[in-house]
Amino acid sequence: MVLTQSIGVESGLQYLSESKEALQSRSVAGRKPSPNQEILPLTASVNSRDRLEIGGCEVTALVEQFGSPLYILDEETLRATSSQYRDAFEKYYPGESQVLYASKAWSCLAVCAIAGSEGLGIDVVSAGEIHTALQAGVHPDKIYFHGNNKSREEIQLAVESGCTIVADNWLDLETLAELGKLGVSSKTGGPTRVMVRFTPGIECHTHEYIQTGQIDSKFGFDPNSLDRVFSFISQQPSLCCVGVHAHIGSQIFELQPHDDLAEVIVQALTKAHSYGLPATEINIGGGLGIRYTEADDPPSIQDWARTICTAVVAACDRHKLALPKLLCEPGRSLVGTACVTAYTVGSQKVIPGMRTYLSVDGGMSDNPRPITYQSVYRVIAANQMSATLTETVTVAGKHCESGDILIKDAKLPKCQPGDILVVTATGAYNYSMASNYNRVPRPAAVLVRNGEVNTIVQRETYQDLLRFDRLPERLSAQK
Ligand code: LLP
Repeated sequence: MVLTQSIGVESGLQYLSESKEALQSRSVAGRKPSPNQEILPLTASVNSRDRLEIGGCEVTALVEQFGSPLYILDEETLRATSSQYRDAFEKYYPGESQVLYASKAWSCLAVCAIAGSEGLGIDVVSAGEIHTALQAGVHPDKIYFHGNNKSREEIQLAVESGCTIVADNWLDLETLAELGKLGVSSKTGGPTRVMVRFTPGIECHTHEYIQTGQIDSKFGFDPNSLDRVFSFISQQPSLCCVGVHAHIGSQIFELQPHDDLAEVIVQALTKAHSYGLPATEINIGGGLGIRYTEADDPPSIQDWARTICTAVVAACDRHKLALPKLLCEPGRSLVGTACVTAYTVGSQKVIPGMRTYLSVDGGMSDNPRPITYQSVYRVIAANQMSATLTETVTVAGKHCESGDILIKDAKLPKCQPGDILVVTATGAYNYSMASNYNRVPRPAAVLVRNGEVNTIVQRETYQDLLRFDRLPERLSAQK
């Protein structure tokens, strides 16, 4: 049997009361709740109709208005998370710092604009993400372009836009040098800002698909090649090496790997200096985990930031180095908890003595994480929050694939077709990894705040699904 819903949870209310008690005890201790340690968005509450509200909006009413599946993003949680990251680095790091939002977690205009308005920069990994960040009004000074196989066109776009390029491999460097020789530069002129990404050789405990720091990784330069890399850059007048970057993985609950990373990355910076490079920035990546279920116990944003800042200060002290500008680039922990996905219950299949399948109107096309990483989520019946959780059911998606299961052995009250279920903590790597499998249109996303609701991503239509299809003339004649 796979993980059951939870031990001792009697109704959906308990997710809230647990959450609220946690909030109260932490605020008594004088600390703000760290959103990545919550299961529900910070504004979650239950109204007098026994229904779940997020951002002052009743979830069932949102589904009536916008349909389902529906991503519901809570602006207050996203802003609280962003400001906690920013404030924590300002508090614990005596030098300059910059938090970047890793937009691969959810790249769309509204999310990038909110992150930008909170003072965050943006980490992008494709021309599409660059375009989105720029269109959202983020200044290119604060856009950092990653990727292990950037195309020449993508690099050119990033250079001309004035973004910083995170060089991942020799092809990146050769392309950059070539573009420099051709006179390609940012509108403001001056050399292109380059950071060097390397694999730090640090392993962490997370799903193998999202481990990145180990030497056997497709990302970044081998640490043994750094001498050649810095020597190459030092000979390119069009390039300015501003610093070094390393990222160790995602959904990490331990603090030690980030503590260890500080020394490795500061050593790399010292090496860059030995080639006369004016490198003054280090980027320690992202990776802080979130609480998908009660079994998940991630450190708070404050503790994560304090660990990193303290370790970087100590490492610089050991190497007698002036404090570099410190960057980090969280994705999941910034946006994950701020969003829930609402679904409508449809058919049920009861296999006596074995399992009950409760199907919803979405699944692996809007949340591919359970089928890809065996991720476990929590689900709540949003229209009967105080009903006793009497049933153990498997919440299945609607796709033509047996593996399209959202949650195994979920604890829910008795549900009927038309009931509204909410899967929590779906802000990161859900919309951004969504597909049209089975020609299912991708859901809408709404932003909620103080009872106000705005569409931030429109629901796809059937016409949208055909937008890029072309029918050769001789086939259309058959119609
Ligand atoms: N920086 C770099 C260079 C990265 O590769 C990543 C994530 C991040 C920052 C942000 O990491 P975060 O703070 O979100 O952990 N699709 C997978 C996660 C892939 C992560 C890829 N890189 C999932 O759904 O779990």
